[in-house]
Amino acid sequence: MNRIRIAKSFFCGVARLVLTIQGIYAGDFPLFPPIGPLPPVTIPADNPQTEAKVALGKQLYFDPRLSGNNWISCATCHNPVLGFADGLPRMLGGPASKEGGRHSPTVMNTAYNEFQFWDGRAATLEEQALGPIQNPNEMFETLDNVVRKLSGIPEYVKAFQEVFGTGVTADGIAKAIAAFERTIVFANAPFDRYMQGDVHAMSESARRGMDLFQGKAECIKCHNGPNFTDNKFHNIGVPADGPLKEDLGRYNVTRNESDKGAFKTPTLRNITETGPYMHNGFFPTLFEVVQFYNGGGGRSENKSADIHALNLTGQEASDLIEFMKALTGELVQITYQSAPLTFPRVPVGF
Ligand code: HEC
Ligand code: HEC
Repeated sequence: MNRIRIAKSFFCGVARLVLTIQGIYAGDFPLFPPIGPLPPVTIPADNPQTEAKVALGKQLYFDPRLSGNNWISCATCHNPVLGFADGLPRMLGGPASKEGGRHSPTVMNTAYNEFQFWDGRAATLEEQALGPIQNPNEMFETLDNVVRKLSGIPEYVKAFQEVFGTGVTADGIAKAIAAFERTIVFANAPFDRYMQGDVHAMSESARRGMDLFQGKAECIKCHNGPNFTDNKFHNIGVPADGPLKEDLGRYNVTRNESDKGAFKTPTLRNITETGPYMHNGFFPTLFEVVQFYNGGGGRSENKSADIHALNLTGQEASDLIEFMKALTGELVQITYQSAPLTFPRVPVGF
């Protein structure tokens, strides 16, 4: 009997080793796409990257004239010095800086998202970019008006001509901003260096946390693949907070009952930089997030079956946090400057 057990565990061990070497084995849940270094960004065929386009996109990203009162830019809520987010539980936008219902997610690594927004209502960065400009609670501007304003600025007219061979267009604005966003890639985190063979890149605690992440804590079930997301939507029972009594999340897009209260699994890369956490910024720190999961998540009729009490010890909870800290990378593809201090001159009348 004993011999059978030993033989069995020996063979399992060998199988694990072979799979690990082939990069297929992911902890105790081999079925999920393995975590690991990021692949290169995929560039859509209809919006190739060029240096001039990225430079134009960057100028637009930081330009408050894309908003109704010429005050709010993309960088107001996705600020490079605040992890390309805003550090607030929920965004402040619109002419009266009103609190919205959702937390501003980071723009770091959005090039890897299969869906944009917490409820995934946009698929591509191009599709996403024109949303906030027109949203009455964000930049409250019309596309016609933005095009008119920018068409009055010779530097923009010249840049659009160079990049797209046209005057200023909404389509060009979206494409240029998306091209810039595709350069905001953070990688080469201690975790990446560890996976590439530098065993000292992660502390012992972080290494234990990585095993827990893929084992006992079951995080890998949803936070998997190189960007730590399955690009799917789940209800984990985050309590309501802020101006919305209830946020139905993905349901607003699909109208499927099963999507009620489900939100996109966010990336965990650079997670130390982008708190507060969750779609409504409910948790100020990672400590509270791990406590939440450890206790079996929140209360919701529609809660995912994969969320249940974990029985992690205090040590295990801090190991898990150490592992998440090791996911903070550095900007690898471009160097950026914070909001430019001088903008092309605003023409009289705007
Ligand atoms: C007033 C604050 C605010 C401004 C200004 C703003 N955003 Fe956002 N952004 C948000 C919030 C909040 C969300 C999440 C909304 C949701 O999920 O419904 C978001 C979502 C996004 C996402 C999706 C990220 C993801 O992981 O799902 C991208 C990309 C993005 N914004 C880029 C931009 C760009 C480009 C601009 C400028 C044209 C911009 N934002 C302006 C607050 C803002
Ligand atoms: C059933 C799928 C699922 C599992 C399992 C899961 N998560 Fe999540 N995670 C999500 C979803 C979905 C969200 C966003 C929920 C929301 O905002 O309502 C999220 C949000 C988070 C956030 C906040 C990210 C941000 O940018 O705000 C962190 C941190 C996190 N999870 C860590 C973990 C850890 C650690 C584990 C394991 C203990 C884990 N998750 C297990 C699906 C999951």
